[in-house]
Amino acid sequence: MTSLSTHSHRPFAYGEDGVLHCDGVRLDDLAREHGTPLFVYGAGGLRRGFRRIRDAFAAANPMIAYSVKANDNLAILKLLDKEGAAFDIVSGGELERIRRAGISGDRVIFAGVGKTFTEIRDAIRYGVREFNVESLGEAERIATVAQELGTEAAIALRVNPEVDAKTHAYITTGKKENKFGMAWEDVLKLCERIAGMKGLRLEGLHAHIGSQILDSSPHQQATAVVDTFLTTLAERGMKLKTLNFGGGFGISYRPEQKPLELGPVAEVVVGLAKRHGLQLFMEPGRSIVGPIGALVTEVQYIKPGREKTFVIVDGAMTELIRPSLYQAYHEIVPVRQPAPGATRATVDVVGPVCESADFLAQGREMIVPASGEFLAVLDAGAYCSVMSTNYNARCRPAEILIEEDGEAHVVRHRQTYDDLLRHESVPSHLE
Ligand code: LLP
Repeated sequence: MTSLSTHSHRPFAYGEDGVLHCDGVRLDDLAREHGTPLFVYGAGGLRRGFRRIRDAFAAANPMIAYSVKANDNLAILKLLDKEGAAFDIVSGGELERIRRAGISGDRVIFAGVGKTFTEIRDAIRYGVREFNVESLGEAERIATVAQELGTEAAIALRVNPEVDAKTHAYITTGKKENKFGMAWEDVLKLCERIAGMKGLRLEGLHAHIGSQILDSSPHQQATAVVDTFLTTLAERGMKLKTLNFGGGFGISYRPEQKPLELGPVAEVVVGLAKRHGLQLFMEPGRSIVGPIGALVTEVQYIKPGREKTFVIVDGAMTELIRPSLYQAYHEIVPVRQPAPGATRATVDVVGPVCESADFLAQGREMIVPASGEFLAVLDAGAYCSVMSTNYNARCRPAEILIEEDGEAHVVRHRQTYDDLLRHESVPSHLE
């Protein structure tokens, strides 16, 4: 088998037959059986991805709360539950997924800037372990609901450490201008307010500075900032129990990139938790699930344009919006290895959606495939299926989980046209 990259848990490799496999299963066979576009995930890689993070932070015996937003498929949640993961959720819908996966509330953290009354009520009833609180208004709301329910909710305050994570502007969260977290002065004020508030138990501090961070220095800077905050809180007699350092560990989307080295990050974060005697929570998403997925798509047409050649495939921004939204790069490889010396060209790989922003790659040098060939868009396990839409009345693809024994499980069925139309109705006078 020829592996594709240095990712410890990317499960895709070419077999001796020259075909791309996921844990021993040929992707072309899967594509023919289940149709394209098709998400394929490797269960072994998922386990290795989780254990890699768990082991890196093991010295603090942390609660590794997988960030459900990255990929919320029930089978993935169940698998991670069996691995001993906890879960970070941001909505009532994600809470419902947790409930249906049979995961207990004491391993769930509820984050997000806009929690509604209903979501808070449901989460308290479910017994979530902690709320990450983002504003005074939210703290007051949680207190009100907890009192109504005759209980107390454990909260962590999300502080904005004002560190630039040097990632894409849309996925940085720790800068002054971002809507996430609170300025340190506001956290201090809120601590005082909370002291007299019934229904709340202040347990921790939370900081998450952004996503797809490839260099350890932003996390190192953030730990230094949070260290001074924790010291100030301790000096003021506020005894916390938990420290949540978020997620954001970058993966190597480009062949020349290296994933974020966890060692230096773990060293400072574990050190910080230990120094202050706090239980450590982490919320990684992408680093666990990103490399374990691929979107398999079939080439429809090769269209020579006036200025460039378009490879038109049946996958689109509707399934994989990251290139359109964040100018993100995903490696695209042929499912069947081409013959040596095949023609290379610089092309745009585009979908059928009626938007010029519908592309999976722009200006990409690749071997020009033929119509009917399958391509695999790599690192599509995180923030791809979950961000898919039905635009242009396109059905969401099926998802296949390959177990380590080579068994292929359909973990999401392809949507049908009936699924698309199920919730619509036509007023009788228009019938
Ligand atoms: N914790 C908090 C508070 C977050 O906001 C996020 C991600 C995570 C944890 C997980 O971060 P991760 O380990 O996955 O980097 N759709 C974008 C990424 C959005 C990230 C949102 N928050 C993308 O496709 O790049």
